[in-house]
Amino acid sequence: MEYIVINGQKPLRGKVSIGGAKNAAVAIVPAVVASSGICIIENLPAIEDVAKLAIAIEGLGAKCRFLDKTTLEVDASCITEYRADYEVAAQMRASYYLLGALLGRFGKAEAPMPGGCDFGYRPIDYHLKGFEALGATCEMEHGMVKIYAEKLTGAHIYLDCPSVGATINIMLAAVFAEGVTQIENPAREPYVVDTANFLNMMGAKITGAGTETIRISGVEKLGGGRYTIIPDPIETGTYMIAAAITDGDITVENIIPKHMDHLTAKLRDMNCIVEECENSVRVYRGGPLTSCDVKTSYYPGFPTDLQPQMATLLCTASGPSVVTETVFNNRFQYVSELKRLGASFKVEGRTAVSKGSCVLTGAQVAATDLRAGAALVLAGLAAKGETTIGNIYHLDRGYECFEEKFRALGADIKRVSINE
Ligand code: UD1
Repeated sequence: MEYIVINGQKPLRGKVSIGGAKNAAVAIVPAVVASSGICIIENLPAIEDVAKLAIAIEGLGAKCRFLDKTTLEVDASCITEYRADYEVAAQMRASYYLLGALLGRFGKAEAPMPGGCDFGYRPIDYHLKGFEALGATCEMEHGMVKIYAEKLTGAHIYLDCPSVGATINIMLAAVFAEGVTQIENPAREPYVVDTANFLNMMGAKITGAGTETIRISGVEKLGGGRYTIIPDPIETGTYMIAAAITDGDITVENIIPKHMDHLTAKLRDMNCIVEECENSVRVYRGGPLTSCDVKTSYYPGFPTDLQPQMATLLCTASGPSVVTETVFNNRFQYVSELKRLGASFKVEGRTAVSKGSCVLTGAQVAATDLRAGAALVLAGLAAKGETTIGNIYHLDRGYECFEEKFRALGADIKRVSINE
């Protein structure tokens, strides 16, 4: 079993370079399945979810070759299989994108109900309703989602809520639907725009990604090409918060500052200085941290994927703060672990109230999901003494070179293996 061990209270200083966006990468790798050419995808994050998706598409018959740690070449022209392997695909959420990509190209697709982080009930009904609107039939059998269509036809689809997964999945299938598909109330996250840009590079005709309406004019075939994934806003935000929580001074490089407006505004409210340059931000405290309230929302609102890290920072600020989670119904499971380090929160439903001014001290804790793991690392970096974090496979799913990047900033952090 592997653990992360941190000796905290070292102010982090220096520069850190951000990798490719996980949630764009985990859409774009499956999207390659829709191509009949050779694709080279650059700036992929070196994380477990990407490695597993490459294995999943190889299982369908694609030829995958990592040209280096962050560049993947895929020849999907030879795909013959339309059924994703249960063992590989059931482990992650993003395997649902194989459904849209395979349905679009072959008119049939099978994949397991997706796994991924447990934030309560995470249905895929909007995805399936979207496929049905395009003319497909969807069934569930033995844990597998089975979808087939004689023909896909463009449709007008309204999403009840702007789901990232449903928006991208419907877009993937609609690329091949005859006529025009219009998605109203789509997610506007940068990952949606990045996936649309990637599909357009391959020959798709998608407009409006990032706005209130996406229009897709169907095409018969997608070719290959070379594409570079955007930097990860959640990794960026994690290091920005690390600067604030350790009273350090970090320049986070290779990013798109505009994607961080939500966090930048909150950090400035908390008395942090955030200096924006074209491709980087520098973050340090302007004085003692003050409290503020945070409510998660869809982009451009405050992202739910930064909620645990932000809540951790807020509990160290002076004064009370209220964190409200509006996207998922059970995303405060990490709070009980954070309390072992001395955090004080009262959770009621989708709200967590911190009285603030918590003095964190090292303890043994376990990550409950990916971003919860990041929150515990941040808490450990701020805490007095030694913190040991278990279940770190969650972190490996979504953060590249986690300990190395923190160590380069001056953290006393290491990974240890203990045989049990
Ligand atoms: C994606 C991200 C995840 C992020 C989340 C919200 C990936 C692989 N994961 O997850 O990191 O936390 O967006 O930004 O990109 N919903 C339904 N029915 C559906 C689909 C969604 O009810 O068919 C609900 C969900 O339960 C949730 C909300 O819609 O309450 C938003 O979920 P969604 O944006 O779809 O999240 P994911 O795609 O699962």
